[in-house]
Amino acid sequence: MWGGRFASGPSAIMEAINASISFDKRLYREDIAGSIAHSAMLAAQGIISQGDAAEIRRGLEQIHDEIDEGRFEFSVAHEDIHMNVEARLSALIGPAAGRLHTARSRNDQVAVDFRLFVKNAAGDLDRALRLLIEALVDRAEEHAATVMPGFTHLQAAQPVTFGHHCLAYVEMAARDRGRVQDAIRRMDESPLGAAALAGTGFPIDRHRTAEALGFREPTRNSLDSVSDRDFALEFLAAASITATHLSRLAEEIVIWSTPQFDFVRLSDAFSTGSSIMPQKKNPDAAELVRAKTGRINGSLVALLTIMKGLPLSYSKDMQEDKEQVFDAIDNLALALAAVTGMVSDLQVNAEKMRAAAGAGFSTATDLADWLVRELGLPFREAHHVTGRAVAMAEERRVALEALPLEDLRQLDGRITNAIYSVLSVDASVASRTSFGGTAPDNVRAQVRHWRERLSAE
Ligand code: ARG
Repeated sequence: MWGGRFASGPSAIMEAINASISFDKRLYREDIAGSIAHSAMLAAQGIISQGDAAEIRRGLEQIHDEIDEGRFEFSVAHEDIHMNVEARLSALIGPAAGRLHTARSRNDQVAVDFRLFVKNAAGDLDRALRLLIEALVDRAEEHAATVMPGFTHLQAAQPVTFGHHCLAYVEMAARDRGRVQDAIRRMDESPLGAAALAGTGFPIDRHRTAEALGFREPTRNSLDSVSDRDFALEFLAAASITATHLSRLAEEIVIWSTPQFDFVRLSDAFSTGSSIMPQKKNPDAAELVRAKTGRINGSLVALLTIMKGLPLSYSKDMQEDKEQVFDAIDNLALALAAVTGMVSDLQVNAEKMRAAAGAGFSTATDLADWLVRELGLPFREAHHVTGRAVAMAEERRVALEALPLEDLRQLDGRITNAIYSVLSVDASVASRTSFGGTAPDNVRAQVRHWRERLSAE
């Protein structure tokens, strides 16, 4: 492609370090779409003939089919997807192929290809997140009143419902979608026509190519157009936060599925056995989701680090953007599908959850609240009285509700039998009716809210 200035070819090492075709061939659809839009625009502007543009289009469509059908021979000597396609075009249609690259550089070419690709991937991610939300909302509805322990510090804190817990992840996934959609809006600008870095003297129409490729508008600064990878970074940032949420849920599934917790049972479809221990059922999918998150977060850090010292405009360092993004896309899609599958399939052991919800004096706050409400104690004092009740129960190794009334009365003589009504886990969750609280009726209202939001899309 640049034979004019060169007397000899690259060394084998140069070729190996320079070539990107092994991975950027994944951009072939975007590359061909970009070239078709560009050549049609060149012809409409009278920069190349309509006949050449038609030839170019025919050749590119054939190349598209060849690649689709696995008949295309990619060559490392042609470095990347752009030059592989152009070399083949030249073999197919001859001299007209040489006019395609008028008023264009690989710098704006790769920028437009990659933006198109990331934009599509972001749309896929958004849809996959919606499926996860639907699965979680279904489980939340089913378990709106299933009581489980809520934890802080992984110590039993207060009873909550499993439905409420599922809806916590719905909130996260909905914010993830918001981040992805925001990123899509910002990346929806076409850099094609920025040429190498300075724009071009040819009378091109960048609005036309932007529209043909489905972008809202062209980018406004040619230097920024070829040196910007914010779209990839934003995608990776949104992907990393999403993966981090998936990893937290995966970690909970790992914990919940231990025989010690026994809150959930994973379906055979999402677990594995042990080659030596016949009794084992392992949550490998959940563990791998946790691990893939490390990898996805790594991609974000890798690309940030690649970009951070680059002077404007294009540098070849930027070729390293693609593998990070491809890897994150593939692994996040798998992780999302696995989590959605596990959420839909897992069996909830409601008895175990309920029993655990009552352990660890989890309704102590309810006792303190009763003292405030019924006896008018300041909360701090009620906290102290309740702490003494907990110490008493702990010493006798019984639950709070098993303490006899006369013993409770030693703490405050005004305590009546009515206090026992707030000490059950069901009473506890039912009382949490503040907006956003865990009461089953609240959970059902939130389920309705999400169903409406989803159906309004
Ligand atoms: N393969 C290159 C990349 O992915 C394409 C752009 C090459 N541009 C250049 N001036 N060498 O970034």
